[in-house]
Amino acid sequence: MSSPKRRLLVTSALPYANGQIHIGHLVEYVQTDIWVRFQRMRGHEVHYVGADDTHGTPIMLRAEKEGLTPKELIANVWKEHKRDFDDFLISFDNYYTTDSPENEKLSQSIYLKLRDAGLIEKRAIEQAYDPVKKMFLPDRFIKGECPKCGAKDQYGDSCEKCGATYSPTDLKNPFSVVSGATPIKKVSDHYFFKLSDPRCETFLRDWTQVKTPLQPEARNKMKEWVGQPGESKLGDWDISRDAPYFGFEIPDAPGKYFYVWLDAPIGYYASFLNYCQSKGLNFEEWVRPDTTTEQYHFIGKDILYFHTLFWPATLHFAGYRTPTNIFAHGFLTVDGEKMSKSRGTLISAHSVIESGFNPEWFRYYFATKLNDSMEDLDLNLQDFVARVNSDLLGKYINIASRSAGFLVKRFGGVVSDAAMNHLLLSEIASASEKIAELYEAREYAKALRTIMELADKVNAFVDENKPWEIAKDPEREADLQRVCSITLEAFRLLSLYLKPVLPQVAAGVEDFLSVPDMSWNDVKTPLSSQNPIKTYKHLMTRVEAPQIEALLAANL
Ligand code: MSP
Ligand code: ZN
Repeated sequence: MSSPKRRLLVTSALPYANGQIHIGHLVEYVQTDIWVRFQRMRGHEVHYVGADDTHGTPIMLRAEKEGLTPKELIANVWKEHKRDFDDFLISFDNYYTTDSPENEKLSQSIYLKLRDAGLIEKRAIEQAYDPVKKMFLPDRFIKGECPKCGAKDQYGDSCEKCGATYSPTDLKNPFSVVSGATPIKKVSDHYFFKLSDPRCETFLRDWTQVKTPLQPEARNKMKEWVGQPGESKLGDWDISRDAPYFGFEIPDAPGKYFYVWLDAPIGYYASFLNYCQSKGLNFEEWVRPDTTTEQYHFIGKDILYFHTLFWPATLHFAGYRTPTNIFAHGFLTVDGEKMSKSRGTLISAHSVIESGFNPEWFRYYFATKLNDSMEDLDLNLQDFVARVNSDLLGKYINIASRSAGFLVKRFGGVVSDAAMNHLLLSEIASASEKIAELYEAREYAKALRTIMELADKVNAFVDENKPWEIAKDPEREADLQRVCSITLEAFRLLSLYLKPVLPQVAAGVEDFLSVPDMSWNDVKTPLSSQNPIKTYKHLMTRVEAPQIEALLAANL
């Protein structure tokens, strides 16, 4: 409110272009979107960008399987992802692709700067190679028998049967998933980012332990990974892959490509650059080391390493600013278990929409579970129905339907201005900074609890005043208008607080209460007799239990 205008660049992780968006992904995009919408409501300058992460071996092989070129495949997937994000009201300012000319240029120039800084080293390494398909095999593309328990058809990193972890070379009777051939060893030159260089070590220790207010769990993990001074725990990072590979060629090394994780985070900048060019914004101003703008990356805990080590080091040594902070969240489970195809709990975003679910039910439910930690969160399907029906509809939405009718029918939709001084309203309005702090700190569960406690008070007010009884007494017209006006203003305030989570409901509320696009400051702009409210239209329906069954069935 009185805080100076901040300038924020915000991202969510770039989803791989080889699969559908599922509800696990949505946790992250919803978490980011709530924060972004909140910051916009506070009047800050916010740019929220994303993109599909398009490069790498899995995408190349999937395209081949489907008889498409990789570029055709990623174009199709981009459309699906964009549709899903739009459906769930994720308000990206730009949704782009890592397979873009901007990203190619940026990746190459960043690489050359790292090379000129003496941080790139060429080294020959030995790797598994498919002699039939004539390509090097990433670990995930080698299977065989578990060296421990002998289970067949296990991946090269761990056994699903006994849980043992090992390296692909330990597998018995290994075979290439691509051709079935027995992999051979082959030597080839790879390019490494020398994270073991003392400059990198010193920089990363300072960046993760002093400079950046990382989440405590993240900071501790980094402390372990970076090690004590002189311990040099960081290994060099292999940033190249051999042809055939779908990606960007390394400028001074024909036939060698950037490993997807080199160009993926640079994709954040490429998407932002593309957006800046279309909006006439000055990209340089945002990315130079002395910038006063802020940069935040929302990610899942599984990709922390890439965002707190590789990415800041890449930026710093190529002469760019580094992120202001990295916000990591935990993983979504469904009914206490890892999402699984066979139980129907690997629920795609599209199936949620196809099964007639309101996306805001999910936005609300996830928000009731989210906090600033990296703890996992659970979608409990029974709890989901209860929360949506009894909290969201029962406590919040119903407030409007309980009082709007009288005001429209009996008073032409005109509220009482005098009623706006009521104590209940000042109590609700005075919670605004506390709620704002909770959103700012990504403590959405606490923010929603606070808002729902206020909703309880509004319902208690309605129950005490019983407008449906006042309405029967012709002597008490003024009283009826007063009670309904207070109730509706309370509803407006609750809607404002919930707007980052429920933007569509909020738009409906703004329309029906005849108020403009609410910002956080509008806490102080009560309903006015000058702008009569309109007839109440349903803002949201209940979730019915059989819908849940249908959703699980649709994902089997
Ligand atoms: N392509 C990389 C990210 C590159 S960022 C420069 C990637 N893609 S992903 O599609 O696998 O995941 C995208 C995001 O969704 C990640 O932040 C990941 O942590 C998150 N999630 C994927 N499954 C999830 C759950 N089950 N629960 C919560 N978040 C999940 O990683
Ligand atoms: Zn085993």
